[in-house]
Amino acid sequence: MRSTRLLFLATLLTLANLLSAQDFKKQIIYQIVTDRFVDGDTSNDNPSESAGLFDSTHSNWYAYWGGDLAGIQQKMSYLKGMGVTAIWISPSVNNENLNLNSNTPISAPYHGYDARDFMQVEEHFGDSSNSWTAFDNLVSAAHSNGIKVIVDWANNHSNYNGGGEFGALYNNGTFMASDSNDPNGYFHHNPNISNYNDRYQLQYYTLLSLEDLNQENATIDGYLKTAVHQFQSHGVDAFRLDAIKHVTWGWEYSFANSVFTQAPSFLYGEWYNNNSGDPMYHDAYKFANKSGINELDFGVNQAVRDVFASNNNFSELDGTISGENANFAWNNDQVTFFDSHDESRFLTLNNNNNRLHEAMAYLLTTRGIPVILYGDEQYLHNDTSGGGDPYCRVWMSSFNTSTTAYQLINKLAGLRQSSNDALAYGSYQQRWINNDVYIYERQFFNDVVLVAINKNDSSSYPISGLYTALPAGTYSDYLGGLLGGSGLTVSSGSGGNNPANNFTLPAHTVAVWQTTGTPSAPEVGSIGPTIGQPGIKVTIAGRGLGSTTGQVLLGATAASIQSWADSSVTFTVPNVSNGVYQTQLKNSSGTAANTIPFTVLTAALIPVTFTVNNATPTNTGDYIFVTGSTVELGSWGTTFDTAIGPMLDPNYPNWFLNAALPGGATVQFKFIKIAANGTVTWENGSNHQYTVPTSGTGYVTVNWQY
Ligand code: NOJ
Ligand code: NOJ
Repeated sequence: MRSTRLLFLATLLTLANLLSAQDFKKQIIYQIVTDRFVDGDTSNDNPSESAGLFDSTHSNWYAYWGGDLAGIQQKMSYLKGMGVTAIWISPSVNNENLNLNSNTPISAPYHGYDARDFMQVEEHFGDSSNSWTAFDNLVSAAHSNGIKVIVDWANNHSNYNGGGEFGALYNNGTFMASDSNDPNGYFHHNPNISNYNDRYQLQYYTLLSLEDLNQENATIDGYLKTAVHQFQSHGVDAFRLDAIKHVTWGWEYSFANSVFTQAPSFLYGEWYNNNSGDPMYHDAYKFANKSGINELDFGVNQAVRDVFASNNNFSELDGTISGENANFAWNNDQVTFFDSHDESRFLTLNNNNNRLHEAMAYLLTTRGIPVILYGDEQYLHNDTSGGGDPYCRVWMSSFNTSTTAYQLINKLAGLRQSSNDALAYGSYQQRWINNDVYIYERQFFNDVVLVAINKNDSSSYPISGLYTALPAGTYSDYLGGLLGGSGLTVSSGSGGNNPANNFTLPAHTVAVWQTTGTPSAPEVGSIGPTIGQPGIKVTIAGRGLGSTTGQVLLGATAASIQSWADSSVTFTVPNVSNGVYQTQLKNSSGTAANTIPFTVLTAALIPVTFTVNNATPTNTGDYIFVTGSTVELGSWGTTFDTAIGPMLDPNYPNWFLNAALPGGATVQFKFIKIAANGTVTWENGSNHQYTVPTSGTGYVTVNWQY
């Protein structure tokens, strides 16, 4: 009896952990450069495997400084007290062992982006046997404090090809290949990328001299997927995917699918500069909308820095966010940040703590999942040479829990985590704006959060003509005046637009007013992952879903329910035909929630490289795409967003592309030209047909049919 109950409890705990993993919208992420946080274990400072890369004086910014996994583990209560619910740590795989550049005193991969062995843990972060002990200890300490673990993961490359170990890659200690010894084609061996607007170079050339992995090689494909599964089996909840613009895009769809097939997870990637000024912008949001991989929000990053640090007008931020919301389907899954390990810290740009607080308050209340860079809550910055990489990777020299920033993060984290679903799931609407003042509202059904920011350092502003969805009543500042805010009175209006009484917003103020409603029907705010084949587990989150099991319908088919709680339901994708479904949840009394889209794949994804030789001629701006009979091939779509492509033409008029196709399925397809003006030209003849392998990687080559 007792052991049954214990088993039951253990199952419940495991389930709870699994369930929340896929819905990251309530998380507050804290980014840690592992080497620069806390030296929790001095025995790994200068390990013999890679001796001489450590600088105990912390004066060489390119050396290891001693921070490690044990150090992060020691700071759990500091993190928990701040309200952080997820930590994003440096790539933790075994990195290369030698000085990267023999002309400099020490140039070490302290940041983790120079892997030598994806199957092992780096000895400077763990221990000299590259064992999992420190990693496992960190994961269990984090989990027992309610903190999820996100590992940075670089699929694009091994390590520097111009020194050190020259790209050498190992599989759990066994040599696989290096730049000059690669008989099996594990690497691409192309020059460095010179044109960042060329899709072929982006994916197949070398990024910053980092030895470029060939993911279409079945051994590398299997190696990277096995390695990420190993990290999942050690309890990793989510991954930040490095340099996703530079990894073969179609292969990444298959990688994401492989992660979700293994266990619930959350993925977000670095598509460096996914904003409207980037010629690859359309590719960036198409990728985010279709792959199951969300993106770091570089548009908001730039706009927040411009507006709060450089004092640009709020219209820049408002325009950026409304543009992105129109293009990114999964807005609330975008990962927002204003500082990172790759750019000058905010306080380097403008050493003004008020502005930092205002930017933090914005980040923690805007749409998307916020990331706080370690040390921002302690006002740390080093301004050497403009404070960029590596000077933004400061040593975490202070852990004061009474800073205003620490308190602010704590308060707004609490609002997002547990009390008001508007922050995690809500819409975003501008309510009042001038150059210095921005008032915006988040709303999820009857949950409303209204935020007012005046970034002017000395002038107050009278606010009149403000409308809100907050019901008539009086609201106190949720921040309790921490950033100078006070109460708000609202009268009743109509159509969700209630007039607020006139008030004055003092200089450098943030006020947050909010309310929560009681749902009368189930309210769905999230689904994760957004794409998958029959059999994988998917979580729907929201509120008022009820405490007894209801139904989840994909078309007319009811899914089998794994678990059902008031805020979260997990189901298994039923055996329905592939396509996009408006998933319909009903509570146990049959009351329907709002629907949410989910893409059912035909089967688990396999990377397949398509080549079409001697395709129809194109002019600048015209591209060849592939389109075909299953959702993986765009369901015969003929637009930029629905067909698969653009294909790549390094050997024009031959075009090729790697795409992710359903393993074991027989698919029909054709190639099309989509001209710059959208005109579609189909190749002639009957459809091509191909049966996708059930494992490894596939290749198909055909001639364009005239
Ligand atoms: C982007 C990472 O954020 C950066 O720090 C790293 O050096 C490059 N990708 C290469 O991995
Ligand atoms: C690349 C161009 O950008 C594309 O538009 C064109 O179709 C091919 N080259 C062939 O000219």
